[in-house]
Amino acid sequence: MDKFIKVTDVTKTYWSEDGKTETKVVLPLSLTIAEGEMVMFLGPSGCGKTTLMRIIGGLEKQDQGSITLAGDLLAGPDRRRGMVFQSYSSFPWLCVRDNIKFGTRYRKDISAAEKEEITDHYMGMVGLSAYSDFYTNRISGGMRQRVAIARTLASSPDILLMDEPFGALDAQTREHLQFQLMDINKTEKKTTIFVTHDVEEAILLADRVVIFSARPARVVKEIDVNAVIPVQDRRNNKADMQKFFSLRNEILEIIRAEYRQTMEAT
Ligand SMILES: Nc1ncnc2c1ncn2[C@@H]1O[C@H](COP(=O)(O)OP(=O)(O)O)[C@@H](O)[C@H]1O
Ligand SMILES: [Mg+2]
Repeated sequence: MDKFIKVTDVTKTYWSEDGKTETKVVLPLSLTIAEGEMVMFLGPSGCGKTTLMRIIGGLEKQDQGSITLAGDLLAGPDRRRGMVFQSYSSFPWLCVRDNIKFGTRYRKDISAAEKEEITDHYMGMVGLSAYSDFYTNRISGGMRQRVAIARTLASSPDILLMDEPFGALDAQTREHLQFQLMDINKTEKKTTIFVTHDVEEAILLADRVVIFSARPARVVKEIDVNAVIPVQDRRNNKADMQKFFSLRNEILEIIRAEYRQTMEAT
């Protein structure tokens, strides 16, 4: 069976303005993701995670290699892939509700009335119903991030690409949204790629954790988290904490080793 997302031998190099210095960001990198899978990307800062996400999202062109989605070669941005990026964006001339509703704009699978319902549903999910009429330059960064998350979910993409989406949120809001995302991923079988630098977040959410090397990114290790702690146990706060912490330490050690290598190389 064809894997849902297939990244094959992708390379990316950035050149300095004068064209003299190259920065290899992604090596020939290959990766497959199954339909409905929740894959967490972990790796040292600057290794190329965002670059790889942008390539998968069609916002950036790889130098070589290919990306396929359900067998189709992807050539550019595509509404089938919805993205929430670290530098979450919103339209300052629209209120919270209209920003979220914007996500439903291109959906043909639902009626106008359903678009209103879905907008309200996700606005409630991210806890912003009371701010419905606020322009987004009048709310905090964390709230804008929630607007961006709600807008992306409202657009119901086949693939969710989330680049450190919960970074600016307080602990309670983050946990709430982590659980919501797990539910969306599992009930709607929504394929999700999620970048984080938070190892515990990675273990909580993942079907599979992919750990990248220091730049240029290659896959150092892939961990099937369900084989260690079933996702339902994590979702219901019933995870075996012994296993959770030993997995956390194992992952941290891999990242530390990568980090040491980077420090020694510079
Ligand atoms: N548009 C760009 N032009 C030049 N260099 C870039 C560009 N985007 C990213 N880089 C460089 O590529 C490397 C990887 O960046 P990034 O993908 O953002 O890493 P990560 O998300 O893992 O922290 C960094 O060294 C960064 O400075
Ligand atoms: Mg990044």
